Parts: sequence; C-alpha cells; structure tokens
Amino acid sequence: MAELKLDISNVFPFVSKEVIYGYKEEATRHLKALHYKTGAGSDLTGWIDLPSRITEDYISEIEETARELGDMAEIVVLIGIGGSSAGAKAIISALSHNFEYLTERNKFPYILFAGQNIGEDYLSELLQVLDKKSYAIIVISKSGTTTETAIAFRILKNHLENQVGLIEARKRIIAITDREKGALRTLTNQLDYKSFVIPEDTGGRYSLLTPVGLLPIATAGFNIRNLIEGARVMAKRTGLFVSFEKNPSALYAVTRNALYKSGKTTEILVNYNNKLNFLSEWWKQLYGESEGKENKGIFPASVNFPADLHSLGQYIQEGERNLFENVISVADTDHALYIPKDTDNFDQLNYLAGKRMDEVNKMAEFGAILAHVDGGVPNIRIEIPRINEYHLGELIYFFKKACGISGYLLGVNPFDQPGVEAYKRNMFALLEKPGFEEETRKIRERIGR
Ligand code: PA5
Repeated sequence: MAELKLDISNVFPFVSKEVIYGYKEEATRHLKALHYKTGAGSDLTGWIDLPSRITEDYISEIEETARELGDMAEIVVLIGIGGSSAGAKAIISALSHNFEYLTERNKFPYILFAGQNIGEDYLSELLQVLDKKSYAIIVISKSGTTTETAIAFRILKNHLENQVGLIEARKRIIAITDREKGALRTLTNQLDYKSFVIPEDTGGRYSLLTPVGLLPIATAGFNIRNLIEGARVMAKRTGLFVSFEKNPSALYAVTRNALYKSGKTTEILVNYNNKLNFLSEWWKQLYGESEGKENKGIFPASVNFPADLHSLGQYIQEGERNLFENVISVADTDHALYIPKDTDNFDQLNYLAGKRMDEVNKMAEFGAILAHVDGGVPNIRIEIPRINEYHLGELIYFFKKACGISGYLLGVNPFDQPGVEAYKRNMFALLEKPGFEEETRKIRERIGR
C-alpha cells in the first residue's frame, strides 16, 4: 500500500547529508529511551504502543456511544482546549466536505467546538444556534480543572438542562477525563454522566488515539478503525527494530535539529490543501508545547498556500534567513477537475486547457519549493498518498514519534508544559480566585487598577 514518504534532499545544500546522518547514534539512543521509558517524562509515553493496545471491545464501545450521540442530537459540542480539542478538530476538518454547512445533511451530527474560545460573542452566538437545535455535549479535560473548559461547560450544561430538563441533559453529556482526579471527574460521578478515561500515561497533545480524539471523530461519522490502523502501521515503521535510515520519524527529528543548530530557528509547516489547515494548528501545539522550553526550541509556524504565497511568500523568499519549510503534500485528490478550453482565449489560459487543477496545484508547490530553496530556505517534504483516515493516522503518529525524539535531541522533556502555568496564575489573581489574594494585590498594584 502507498505510504507516507519523507524527502530531505532539499536540506542537503544547507546541512550536509553526513551531518544529518551523523546523528544516527544519538537518535537511536533517544528512540530506545522512548520505548524503554528511560528518558525525561517517561511516565507520559503511553501513546507510543497505544495503537496496538486498543482492543476490539474498546473500539466497539466508542462506536456505540458515537451512534447513541448521533441518534439523540443534530449537533455535538466538543468542549475542551489544547490537546483536549485540537486533534479531533484537525481530523474532522481534514475529512469533512469543504462546504459541509451548505450540503445536504448526512446522518451524522455536526461537531462544534467550545472551550478553546471563551469569547463572549462566540459563546453567545453558539447558544443562539443551539436554542433551535437538538444537541449533546462531549466535555474533555484530562486535569478536569482547566478554567476555559470548565466555564464553557458550566454555561452549556446550564443551557442544555433548561432546554431538555435535568434528566435528559444527563443522558446527553459524555465526559472524557481522568479516572479519579479533578473537578470534572467529581461532577461526572455525582451527576452520573457516561464517561471515558484518558489514560494516565498519555498527555493532552499526544492523546488523539484515546477517547479524546476517537469519540468525536467517530461521532462525526469517520472510520476510527482505519485511523488506528494507519497509526499502528506507522508505529511499526518507526519502531525499535527499524534501522535509523528507514525510520522517517527519526530522520525528520534529526533533520530539524541539525537545521536548528545551523541557525534555522523557525519551522513553517506548509500545506496546499485547506482541509489540512487545522492539522497545522494541531502540529504547532504538538511541537511548540513539547519543545519550547529552557530558552530553546524551534518556533513552529504554518502557512496555507497558495493564499499565503501572496502574503507571507515575500518574507519567506527574502526576509530574515532563519526559516526552514516543511511541506505536506497530498499525492492524490478525491475529485478530478479539468480546466476547460475557451474558444476566445481572452484570458490566455488555453495553454492550461485539459490539465487537472491538481497539476496546477502541484506545479505551484514544486515552483515554490525551488524558489524558496534558492532563496535560502531549506525544505523538508512529507508526502501522504491521500487524505483519509488511514493516512491521517500514519501522519499523526509520525509527527508524535518524531516530536518525542526531537525533544530528547534538544535536551528537553517533550511531555511537560510548565510554562503554561504562568498566565493562569495571573488570570486567577485578576479574577480574584480564592487562595490568590496576595497575587491579586500585587498584580493590581502592577497594572494600576
Ligand atoms: O497538551 C497538553 O497537555 C495541553 O495542551 C492540554 O491538553 C490542555 O492544557 C488542556 O488540558 P486539560 O485536558 O487538562 O483540560
């Protein structure tokens, strides 16, 4: 079967093949540390062999719950933030029709998102929509204490209870959280919501193949078996018994680290298929939160081409030379669209007549890669055969495995996120959360309010 391909040849003009392959021993050591759980944050590496541990019963239970949600609701609102939301959003957007809101309804619910956005207008307008619809809620938080998620859940739970009554609302709420800890677990047990457990050994941004991603993706009508299978196959391709030269995750990890050491401090994920825009958002979180610590780490950015060729393209071509690109290319499309011949040819496009749009898209891609390489921007290219559950499963696992190796190469713990706490303390102090009285006094003095 066609599989994900990694091409790093457009990096060699900047960092030699010898330098990149010189990381072989180091990368192999880090791969072993991941698998044998001897590296930093090893208590959060359960995702590594998860694809092969997911049982048939477990998948069936998730699919059954997804069906129940679909039977009771036109809309399912996923409430969560960061790793508790970004993966499902990435996969559902990648697999959905581009204009799904304007197409004939299929039999699966729309998945809407809350908690990742606590803007008053966003939530008010969401409630306006939900006023007229039947809906259910999947609330996701590993810690069970995340403020954005908790506030959005309180508002939506209250709305749903008013709409359908307390008893029916309880049937329409599914919680995905820790087995024991956190306010969401307490609430779930008290109110007897159906729930799924997020494995203790898997952190938020690595949790896509737990119920965190699987339940919403199955609810949206997509095939989670193929997603898991793609990840399973990639887990083998990047496993302990594969040589460094054949392990795409190890090669990607060392290439980006070699580039970082040569002064390329920003990595831009590029896609030519707008269905992958939210995959870029998931990827940015994965790498940013995993590597950006101890005053180091590549800054992960993303662009959507060709649109951004007409905005950020100028910077990429001629701006600060601290960039490298990582293009995700999709080999095959779902549809074929040919450019028609025009007798008048006033637009002078007849040289393209009979060509497929995808050919034009691909030539834009190759043209931009060469131009950017010529302009001093090294290029990594990842090709996936097409956008479907199986290949997305491969891609997701590929990036996660590479991120673990890459974090170790950088010398950081890729599984924690201590820096996320700083803003929370300030927010709690400003909102006068009990227990933060001293911080409230200090922060008010500081901002003069
Ligand atoms: O990757 C992570 O660990 C974070 O992005 C979390 O997923 C995010 O902060 C949400 O946390 P929680 O699931 O505890 O609500």
